[in-house]
Amino acid sequence: MASITPISNSQSLFNKPQIPTLKKPKLQLLSLPISNFSSKKARMVVVSATTAAEKSSNKRYPGESKGFVEEMRFVAMKLHTKDQAKEGEKESQGPPMAKWEPKIEGYLKFLVDSKLVFDTLERIVHKAAFPEYANFKNTGLERSESLAKDLEWFKEQGHAIPEASSPGISYSKYLEELSENDPQAFICHFYNTYFAHSAGGRMIGRKVAQMILNGKELEFYKWDGDLSQLLQNVREKLNRVAESWTREEKNHCLEETEKSFKYSGDILRLILS
Ligand code: HEM
Repeated sequence: MASITPISNSQSLFNKPQIPTLKKPKLQLLSLPISNFSSKKARMVVVSATTAAEKSSNKRYPGESKGFVEEMRFVAMKLHTKDQAKEGEKESQGPPMAKWEPKIEGYLKFLVDSKLVFDTLERIVHKAAFPEYANFKNTGLERSESLAKDLEWFKEQGHAIPEASSPGISYSKYLEELSENDPQAFICHFYNTYFAHSAGGRMIGRKVAQMILNGKELEFYKWDGDLSQLLQNVREKLNRVAESWTREEKNHCLEETEKSFKYSGDILRLILS
């Protein structure tokens, strides 16, 4: 059984989100061929069993009534440190952003590794190994092209663009693997990467620009159109995809959040290298 526990009996798990071993759910429903009738029957049995179990215990998960994105957000916010976000619960490690002393070399490493991650995510949704991924093509949140323009600008300014480094390379490999065999976990990374960038990522971008780029706003932090509407469109699509997941699959997705923070945190730390 997955270890994300409903509010009713373990609110404290979210206070200390040390999520143990990540178990892959036995059922990978997204991988079932749509035409496979016997699988569809099996799925109906599972869904009705889950519903009965949920009804009988009347369990509720934080954010559940608003849709699955709210559940993902709830878990993510608690994994922030207290100085990163109001809802954060983790103790800070390292200096708070106010005390950062970034340098261009470190920031360039961060941008290069970020580009590798966004290139990977965008390639994966285009390839759509699972048909559900195709919902996330051309959302307007894509960052790969804007990062390419930024790196070109740095080059024109005379800066050497570094090769991608191990945090970005490891994350990219991990995402490729997940996307082929664990769609719920992959979607967790997709959500966290794009939404983190639109929130904390922008704050970081502004701060670093003031400190080392004379306030120049990079393309990485500009979107075509209304960002809040683009985010809302993606929230709705994510909610719809997750509607077909069992509770166990949803929990499996939520449990992946910690890994998303770990990988993205390693890339963020490049700014200070
Ligand atoms: C220095 C690092 C970070 C800072 C300063 C930061 C800060 C923030 C802030 C201020 C918010 C908005 C809270 C609100 O809506 O009231 C936020 C939201 C969020 N952050 Fe972070 N964050 C950081 C790192 C991360 C990382 C590493 C991840 C995961 C990869 C992440 C995932 C998210 C998500 C999913 C949201 C919700 C966005 C939404 O609801 O639209 N953050 N963050």
